[in-house]
Amino acid sequence: MDFFKRLFYKSSRVDIAAGKAVSGPRLSLVGSDTPARTRIWAVGGGKGGVGKSLVAANLGIGLSRLGKKVLMVDVDLGAANLHTLLNMDGGKVSLSNFFKSGSTDIIPFVSKTDFVNLDLVSGAKDSLDVADNCGEGLLRLKEALHKVPYDYVLLDIGPGTASNILDLFLMADEGILLTTSEPTSIENSYRFLKCLFLRRIRNIANSQEDTKIKELLHRVFAGQWSSRIKTVADILNRLREIDPGRGELLKEILGNTSVSIVVNQTRTQADREVGPAMKMACRNYFGIDIGFLGDIAYEDVVHESIRSKTPLALSGGQSEAARAIETCMQRLTNNELRQKRRMA
Ligand SMILES: Nc1ncnc2c1ncn2[C@@H]1O[C@H](COP(=O)(O)OP(=O)(O)OP(=O)(O)O)[C@@H](O)[C@H]1O
Ligand SMILES: [Mg+2]
Repeated sequence: MDFFKRLFYKSSRVDIAAGKAVSGPRLSLVGSDTPARTRIWAVGGGKGGVGKSLVAANLGIGLSRLGKKVLMVDVDLGAANLHTLLNMDGGKVSLSNFFKSGSTDIIPFVSKTDFVNLDLVSGAKDSLDVADNCGEGLLRLKEALHKVPYDYVLLDIGPGTASNILDLFLMADEGILLTTSEPTSIENSYRFLKCLFLRRIRNIANSQEDTKIKELLHRVFAGQWSSRIKTVADILNRLREIDPGRGELLKEILGNTSVSIVVNQTRTQADREVGPAMKMACRNYFGIDIGFLGDIAYEDVVHESIRSKTPLALSGGQSEAARAIETCMQRLTNNELRQKRRMA
């Protein structure tokens, strides 16, 4: 069975996250409303060590300083360190305790941070086997996060393309894909996107009450034609051939999977060209538009901020990287405002 088939047929259930990311002009947050419901942002990506936790922590602090109530959740299962970036000892309880509890209430597992409006579900004291044994806990986590009394939930997700990681990323209203400009990181980012869209297709197929789309997708993967499927765009094209209406519908749903790229640790002009190039390549290769939120410069002060456990967002505008993360935050909140206006 080839890669696409294995991904599609892997058993599990489903979910459809909504929302669309579009990068756009910078608007001030002053005067913007608090979101009507808790918004979930996920920071993830295919590669380790590219700055996911750094960006998650500073987005969280940035939002909390705007007066938003923010809950950060360290879902880097087995390698949590968000607490360290937030200068905490790790809290008394951990995400593991939530998974073991069987509960759909996350509040008893929340620790206070020293930052006003910012709380954390820490992974510091997670059990050693947390990544292997969270199982149905992820479904409960999703349910729990949608009913917390916070404006924003920020998920710091570990690297890779394991199904748990993809499902965590798909839980979010806004998915933020961190990469650097190095070929290894770009390669893993494309792989992450490919797996993400395939997981989404599989989840959509499994979730349909009308089983027609599932049936059609099974036909896409069946028979001679399946050996010619190399990309997500191939799946969409084949589906459109069999059933144009449902092909378009699936494309639209995939397009609503909100993913935006951030290129971290940029040093040169060539590095800064990677983001727009990746956005273009995604349109050509996947047939899907994704957002590009911006670049974050490589700076020694980032390393110093981590060493001293003093978050970058507190640098008082001295750091270019801090300003870049703030710009990403503003673009994300602008996306939300646009969505809200569209829906009004
Ligand atoms: N813009 C930057 N400038 C300089 N150094 C940076 C920058 N961004 C990240 N780093 C360095 O990269 C290291 C890794 O960052 P971080 O822990 O946020 O990555 P991660 O993607 O969360 O890693 P993991 O996959 O292990 O969770 C930081 O400790 C810091 O030293
Ligand atoms: Mg991390």
